[in-house]
Amino acid sequence: MRAIAVSTFRADPALVEVPKPDPRPGQVRVRIEYASLNPRDWQFANDTLDGLAPEVFPLVVGVDYAGRVDMIGSGDNRFRVGDHVFGRTGGPAAGAGTYCDYVCVPQESAIALVPRGLDARIAAALPSAGMAAAQILEAVSLRGHESLLIVGAAGGVGTCLTQLAKARDVRVIAAVRGDERARMGSLGAAVTIDVTDGPASDAIRASCPDGVDALADLASATPEAFAAHAAALRPGGIALSTRGVAAGAALPRGVRGVDFRLDPSPVLLDVLAAGAADGVLRVPIDAELPLEKAPQALDRNRTGGARGKTVIVLREHGHC
Ligand SMILES: NC(=O)c1ccc[n+]([C@@H]2O[C@H](COP(=O)([O-])OP(=O)(O)OC[C@H]3O[C@@H](n4cnc5c(N)ncnc54)[C@H](OP(=O)(O)O)[C@@H]3O)[C@@H](O)[C@H]2O)c1
Repeated sequence: MRAIAVSTFRADPALVEVPKPDPRPGQVRVRIEYASLNPRDWQFANDTLDGLAPEVFPLVVGVDYAGRVDMIGSGDNRFRVGDHVFGRTGGPAAGAGTYCDYVCVPQESAIALVPRGLDARIAAALPSAGMAAAQILEAVSLRGHESLLIVGAAGGVGTCLTQLAKARDVRVIAAVRGDERARMGSLGAAVTIDVTDGPASDAIRASCPDGVDALADLASATPEAFAAHAAALRPGGIALSTRGVAAGAALPRGVRGVDFRLDPSPVLLDVLAAGAADGVLRVPIDAELPLEKAPQALDRNRTGGARGKTVIVLREHGHC
């Protein structure tokens, strides 16, 4: 089958042929229609390969997918051949990358049925970004009328988080690069700040003079950059990083740092998919491209600029 894979240490992901996997007991095999791109897909290839045994290569990239169950492993299974499903796998290290034609996943993993009315592209775009957004909102435990500063709000996680927070009456301050006021406003941001326009701290203070209640920093890759954003928080506020830099940051007195880790769940997938099918949660698609263009898309995402999700097309839904 076709796959985008890393073939050895420090190699760039490239199009290769790999054997089609067979499902083990309790697994399902999914014939993938769409996969979606997450920064983790290139971060993984960049950062986390050292220490792996050479025989694990080639490692297929990707975690998010939508497609049809085409084979069931032995034993009882909650899925049937032909079910239209989507989800998030354990990824390359688990031998379950998704930039490929087929993936095998345990039936109890983060996999759910695509509800009627939900486009399979959107289903593929939803798992990592949607689940991260929902769990970030839980982690910062905001109630209505509190404020949330989202840094990197225009990307996959940020666009979902903005909407979920707004749905709880949380006041979202979206920090982005570029003029994204119209887009972020339509998703529910109360204030949109272009961080390339001058010091973001001035604009944040102007919109929240008593300090922000929580920070979700989806962009800062250093403790210093993260701490600079956390300076906008009021005492007692929560500063969350999705990039693992909170623990090393010098935070203002009284501000609690959190390094977020996604905990994928099939139940959460059902909830998010229902919201997306109803149109309550919009998942903006930034780009849609064929499998062979995925390496370039990974390179592009590495340099920034995401405005929603990139979807990789393995085969159009309903076609053979
Ligand atoms: N820890 C976890 O479990 C977990 C879970 C999910 C995601 N994540 C991580 O969270 C991060 C965001 O994920 P994502 O899926 O939303 O990525 P994405 O779709 O690529 O979006 C990232 C966004 O950040 C913006 N950005 C980058 N630098 C910025 C800056 N200095 N100020 C403002 N905006 C900035 C980018 O646009 P511009 O470049 O145009 O500004 C882009 O819109 C990734 O690093 C991902 O790996 C971690």
